[in-house]
Amino acid sequence: MSEADGLWQRWQALRRELAHHAYLYHTLDAPIITDHEYDLLWQELLEIERQYPQWQDASSPTQTRGAAPRADLGQVEHQIPMLSLDNVFSVEEFRAFDQRLRERLGRDQALTYVCEPKLDGLAISLRYRNGHLVRAATRGDGLIGEDVTASLAALPSVPKNLLADEPPEEVEIRGEVLMPRAAFVRLNEQAEAQGGRIFANPRNAAAGSVRQLDASVAAERGLEFFAYALAYSSDPLPPQQQAQLALCQRWGFQLAASIAVGQGAEFCEAQHAALLAERERLPYEIDGMVVKVDAVAEQSLLGFVARAPRWAIAWKFPAIEVSTQLLAVDWQVGRTGALTPVAHLRPVNVGGVIISRASLHNIDEIQRMDLHLGDEVILYRAGDVIPKIARSLTASRRDAPIAITLPTHCPVCASPVLRPPGEVVARCSGGLYCPAQRHEALLHFVSRRAMAIDGLGEKWLAMLIRQGRIEHAADIYRLDRDSLLALDRMGEKLADKLLQAIAASRQTTLPRFLYALGIRTVGESTASALATHFLSLEALMDADEAALLRAPDVGPITARWIVTFFAQPHHREIIEALLAAGVHWPPPQVQQSLSGSYVITGTLVSMSRDQARAHLLRLGARVTGSVSAKTGAVIVGHEPGSKKDQAERLGVPILSEDDFLQLLQRHGVTP
Ligand code: IVH
Repeated sequence: MSEADGLWQRWQALRRELAHHAYLYHTLDAPIITDHEYDLLWQELLEIERQYPQWQDASSPTQTRGAAPRADLGQVEHQIPMLSLDNVFSVEEFRAFDQRLRERLGRDQALTYVCEPKLDGLAISLRYRNGHLVRAATRGDGLIGEDVTASLAALPSVPKNLLADEPPEEVEIRGEVLMPRAAFVRLNEQAEAQGGRIFANPRNAAAGSVRQLDASVAAERGLEFFAYALAYSSDPLPPQQQAQLALCQRWGFQLAASIAVGQGAEFCEAQHAALLAERERLPYEIDGMVVKVDAVAEQSLLGFVARAPRWAIAWKFPAIEVSTQLLAVDWQVGRTGALTPVAHLRPVNVGGVIISRASLHNIDEIQRMDLHLGDEVILYRAGDVIPKIARSLTASRRDAPIAITLPTHCPVCASPVLRPPGEVVARCSGGLYCPAQRHEALLHFVSRRAMAIDGLGEKWLAMLIRQGRIEHAADIYRLDRDSLLALDRMGEKLADKLLQAIAASRQTTLPRFLYALGIRTVGESTASALATHFLSLEALMDADEAALLRAPDVGPITARWIVTFFAQPHHREIIEALLAAGVHWPPPQVQQSLSGSYVITGTLVSMSRDQARAHLLRLGARVTGSVSAKTGAVIVGHEPGSKKDQAERLGVPILSEDDFLQLLQRHGVTP
């Protein structure tokens, strides 16, 4: 295939592609590629047509920007065609534009330019007869547009009557109708809540709202109109663009923010940079800066090319939004076990950086955006920060979408993943065992309030983990002098000190040990409540959720984490290894001030039965469920059961709630 053949094929493909995207964009208001991508395709086509002008004809997208008007809206023939603007993307291209104009005009000195934000909405033409609004039209294909008079007339920013004592008989104002960011967010939130249509961006939302048969929609959705040109007047017009804008303003139109007038390319360059910096702060979206020759006389000398004036240019901002495909989502496990979804994308250039991954917050965000594998998605970089997925172009889905689900097991260690009701973060329950959490879990294990291994902080632990000497907590107790001395910068003295600290930590307490295990939601106080309630590690390990819920300080979420933790064989193995390494503790500290067994029956007013039970246990008593002759006393609340009768029969002492409170008080407990 010759080069020309190749280009011919590419040219045809580009024409088809561009026509398709123009239809999606203009007629359906539902684009599936970004403007920037459209511009790139368009530039490519233009380049080929420059090389082979003979291929170009009137139907080429380079000659007809826009698309046929929608048939269901009335049509309006533009008396003055609505043109488009040529684009530049760099300082060099802009300088070439300036150079071209000066050459054409035979001017050495700088030209006066008006720099205006390029508003990202849709072009509208407004006709006024004797000062009254008579017609509003979209651009359509530039020659024929759609009649949107009723929608535009309903907008507060469109004067129904020009503010002029003697308005021209006939005048045509051009400008942009757009949806401010805040209104766009509101609209999509509403659509999400009520199941309406979600728009890809404010511009499509504006287009969709203006082109409604119900004229009140545009105003309800907060659309605004900004004037940027006077296309026609039956009276003479001021001879500069800036003066024409000022006239529009006097007639009652609003103008875009940050319009600046100055001389030469350098002025425009500085203005472009300033506007780019301001971009994010503006209440509406802009996608570049339009530079116009100020003097109407010079504009006339420069004239037009097929579809655009020679005297103006759109200097586009670098793309901060591009579309790409979501190829896969994998789940990263953080140091605390939190699972974060990471999107793998078809690599794209976003503002000069190739991006192939983007992190998503959590499964909720995936569901909110209705993301599915294979979707075309919009990527953006707000300011200079990390890329994010803004939304999915659901309209472009071809096949049945593949849902993205939260894994049930940790992708790193295969422990179950838990996401307690009401929590957004899902976590791996692997804790001490999970390699992703190893570092953090071990740091917690050795920390002062846990196993208190002084000196084995961040630095040495990190080295030992990196060298593979420590994988699990029990490995700490296998460290010997040689393995420590092998570490960079480890001296003999320090090694001995560390070994001593490790040895000393073997003697611990049950609350400390439980806390050191790093079971989610089990902090120091819960650990100590568990220790006093269950008295032994074995009893705690065997407790089911119901039994755990009876312990003070334990709610359903904590109960769930505890059960999941001990249900995993690898956690039991680590615990066994720790015990085998000599970790031990005295039976939990109970004040042996009460002895014998107690039975509680009926409802207590001042505390729950579980609390009463915990108090008794702490004082050294046993609490049992049935009354026998050996029972020390039965504590009787409201509506006691048969246990009270039994106690009476067996002659076991009976304590009322008051008696019980006094008993506690005598032993130094004030509930
Ligand atoms: S002047 C003959 N000024 O950009 C010149 N256009 O790509 C006509 N636009 O169709 C346009 N802000 O919808 C002009 N300050 C501005 C603009 C602006 C946005 C849009 C307009 C036009 C498109 C051209």
